[in-house]
Amino acid sequence: MIQVKDSLFTLHTAHTTYQFAADGNGFLLHTYYGPRAEGDFRRLLRFADRGFSPNPNALADGRVFSLDTLPQEYPASGVGDFRVPVIEARFADGSAAVDLRFERCEVRKGKYALEGLPAFRGDDAETLAVYLRDPCTGLSAELLYGVLEDSDLITRAVRITNGGSAPVTLTNAGSLCLDFARGDMDVITFDGRHTMERIPHRRAVAPGVQSVGSGRGITSHQHNNFVVLCDHDATETSGVAYGAALVYSGNFRAAVERSQFDHIRLVSGISPQGFSWTLAPGETFTAPEAAMACSNEGLGGMSRIFHAAIRSHLCRGEWAHKPRPVLLNTWEAFYFDFTADEVVEAAKAAADAGVELLVLDDGWFGNRCDDRRGLGDWFVNEEKLPGGLAPLAKRIGDLGLAFGLWIEPEMVSEDSELYRAHPDWALRIPGRPATMGRSQLVLDFSRPEVRDAVYAQLCKVLRSADIRYVKWDMNRSLTDVWSAALPAGREGEAAHRWMLGVYDLLERFTRDFPHILLEGCCGGGGRFDCGILYYSPQIWTSDNTDAADRLLIQYGTSFGYPVSAMGAHVSAVPNEQTHRTLPFETRGVVAMSGTFGYELDPRKLTPEERADMRSQIARFRELYDLLQNGEYDRLTDPRSGLAAWQQTAPDKSEALVNVVTGLTRSNDAFLTVYPRRLDAEAVYSVNGEWSDTGAALMYGGIPLPQEKGDFRAMQFHLVREGA
Ligand code: GLA
Repeated sequence: MIQVKDSLFTLHTAHTTYQFAADGNGFLLHTYYGPRAEGDFRRLLRFADRGFSPNPNALADGRVFSLDTLPQEYPASGVGDFRVPVIEARFADGSAAVDLRFERCEVRKGKYALEGLPAFRGDDAETLAVYLRDPCTGLSAELLYGVLEDSDLITRAVRITNGGSAPVTLTNAGSLCLDFARGDMDVITFDGRHTMERIPHRRAVAPGVQSVGSGRGITSHQHNNFVVLCDHDATETSGVAYGAALVYSGNFRAAVERSQFDHIRLVSGISPQGFSWTLAPGETFTAPEAAMACSNEGLGGMSRIFHAAIRSHLCRGEWAHKPRPVLLNTWEAFYFDFTADEVVEAAKAAADAGVELLVLDDGWFGNRCDDRRGLGDWFVNEEKLPGGLAPLAKRIGDLGLAFGLWIEPEMVSEDSELYRAHPDWALRIPGRPATMGRSQLVLDFSRPEVRDAVYAQLCKVLRSADIRYVKWDMNRSLTDVWSAALPAGREGEAAHRWMLGVYDLLERFTRDFPHILLEGCCGGGGRFDCGILYYSPQIWTSDNTDAADRLLIQYGTSFGYPVSAMGAHVSAVPNEQTHRTLPFETRGVVAMSGTFGYELDPRKLTPEERADMRSQIARFRELYDLLQNGEYDRLTDPRSGLAAWQQTAPDKSEALVNVVTGLTRSNDAFLTVYPRRLDAEAVYSVNGEWSDTGAALMYGGIPLPQEKGDFRAMQFHLVREGA
């Protein structure tokens, strides 16, 4: 619900309230974001004469009003606020001050959409548009707020228009600013590296600026664009926690600042590093969307808001809600070395165990016999696959399996027909040797002719056979970002224009192939974000398939993203990445809390393992809805030595408690796991073996059997009796 009264803007969701005000001089001041509360929070604004905090010219309240000390809604730079700004610009006269003042607002039914950019949707949502203008330069901003009331989600985006008569260059065009008139909060960021993504790091917000970001052209394995602020004592179940997700997949910055007066500011948006965007008079720039949620049920409550909103209001298309197939991916089974017969044999063994989709990963096209060549040539390598994909897809189909394919559209190898024909299509700086990554270059997708040529090839191959799934990969960071299509003074636009080009292709793909299940990928989880989830409902979480490491990766990922978004597979042992050998059961339990599949050669499994695979898939199917769509609780941090998490049906009629022990110790202490959010009064049966009340289970816990061996998995299926 959006209320506008006396220049006070109040956005209510079911359980939260967000409020800001325009003061008499048009300054937009943030007053409150938190658990739902009625009231005029302007009473929280405090004014004082502070040394070295400048005052706007000719204000009646003179020296007690400073942008430097007040919580703001959309802070700029150069006119008195010295904290991290969310918008910066350079004007034709060389000046760089921006002073945006309130002009008017509009409340609209439905949620705004952003041309060419991913964004949450909401049929029952409302939009508040607030128009600001700098009277000296004519620069204006349209602040957009989407209120998804039932989902407890508030989204923001900004359109910046040059209303002056000369060009202006934006040097920073952030999406979100969240000011808190308090300094006692923790920040949690999700950091890591290739094969070890999104590990949570929590610390108190310290004086000064702490930021995470990416300049790699992709969200990155190193830092995610989802961040959390919370009470120092917030736990999984208590305290106030705020999450902010950027609905974007390119360079970003999320910065947290604790100011001199112990206020906290969070800004998030496209990274200003290297960014610039020139607007001719009348032109508009649209900053990507950011989505915010707040919960006073701790970090768990906050995560559940994002999980539900992503599933219902971000993921689109047929596959957003349709049960996803259990797949077999050929990558770790074959790498580049396979024949059609071998793939069919593997598919046969997989079909026998209940697999529903065979995904042919890298290596099926051009001269792709290793990872040094072939990218850009999206036609079938007929030496490996005589007759193309159609006969293979047919043979796989005859086994009762759907057929899926791997592609990497943004890339080109120097050793490829595409590169030999169009060397100028790769991002590189004339006169400078190109920096390589996995021996490949990035195509300049800011140029429509480059995108069109790649897309034409892809369409041809995707239409050549019955293809039901595509894994869209992206395997290097962007360097030498320079586009032949841009004038010298506008090269700061290249990275974002490239991202817009990728989104354009993804949009075309989802429009033209709505029946294909798309899985995002970027060397595993290098582009795991709400931007990609708008196009593909699942993303390969990490190239690390070791179940012990996956416990931590999936734990971290779950803070912002639902199980239904996380690609997870059972792979062979010893594991390719860690050389660790974990029980088949453990690998299955971990992968089931993701979009489930296998990444191994099923022909090489022992008869016992094949039987385990069959019963694992049957169990996954039986528990599908609970696993994929259940409300998620992180019961422990796996770094504690015990990993436990729970999925619960919204009506609490059943729950699944998943446990994986850590390294075993001789003569170890007993372990107990405590389920959450059950119906306290009801009686639940546990694995059909014994029963107790919800209260007894939650507060007394479930004693774990003392199993010998490392990383032992257990699942407790709690079913409410009489349900
Ligand atoms: C990336 C992906 C892998 C696999 C390879 C193929 O690393 O994350 O799953 O598809 O590329 O080259």
